[in-house]
Amino acid sequence: MSEWIVVAPFDPITEQELRWILRRRNELHADSVIVKPNGEGIASLAQRQEMVKRAIAPYRHLSLHGTVREPQLLVLPEELLSSEKIVRQGRYDKAARGIRKLLAESGVYFVESVNALCKPGRAAHSRSVAQVCRELASAHHLDAEQAWKAGILHDITKAWSDEAGRAFLQVYEPDKVSLNPKIYHSLTAPVFLKTVMGIQDKAILHAIRTHTLGDGHNDLDYILYIADKIEPTRGYDTRKETALAKEDLKAAFELVMKEAEDYRERRGE
Ligand SMILES: [Fe+2]
Ligand SMILES: [Fe+2]
Repeated sequence: MSEWIVVAPFDPITEQELRWILRRRNELHADSVIVKPNGEGIASLAQRQEMVKRAIAPYRHLSLHGTVREPQLLVLPEELLSSEKIVRQGRYDKAARGIRKLLAESGVYFVESVNALCKPGRAAHSRSVAQVCRELASAHHLDAEQAWKAGILHDITKAWSDEAGRAFLQVYEPDKVSLNPKIYHSLTAPVFLKTVMGIQDKAILHAIRTHTLGDGHNDLDYILYIADKIEPTRGYDTRKETALAKEDLKAAFELVMKEAEDYRERRGE
């Protein structure tokens, strides 16, 4: 019985790594290959084990645990490890097929992805919005984790140039190209989140889509719109708005929208 073991962070296991392991298994005529996550990761060891378990489920020659005392070591090429980082930075489509849904639903790499795709100030704003979203949702006994996800992801395409946004919209929503480029990111983000990161939650995508114009009418739409404007890194005194938002989302949404309009008027926009 020939048993091999491949050890890596698998944070997370990628499709490229999985393909390589399967190919080597074949070449070596190994009876089994143990795929073992180790070391530190953004995801906990238990989470990475769960990912490997799901990723290898269709393959009978791969397992998470071994049966012999000293399996032979299979060394994963260094360059494959960088595919893990690419996934963490938002390319969930490059994760092993069986775990893409898990990544999109658990949000385990959302902060890492936002930190990679946004400028530092924007990433800090997004983390702060996410926190406020969570608090507001909790205050109203709504899904706090769903609200956090909408908050952390809402500006994910904000660093794109106007040209990049325009080119993307030409393909997906040509009738929106004529809008102010400041609005582009709220339209490109849901498409990017759906197609590249595999986010399926319609309420999250809708809240993000409506977060600049404030044209949403669901609780999560209100929460994200309010949180985007009142989060503490913006540096305004928002005690009044925060208190109102914990009492009445719709009233707070209307107040915050009115304040934003007044502000734009004062600046002559
Ligand atoms: Fe935004
Ligand atoms: Fe924002």
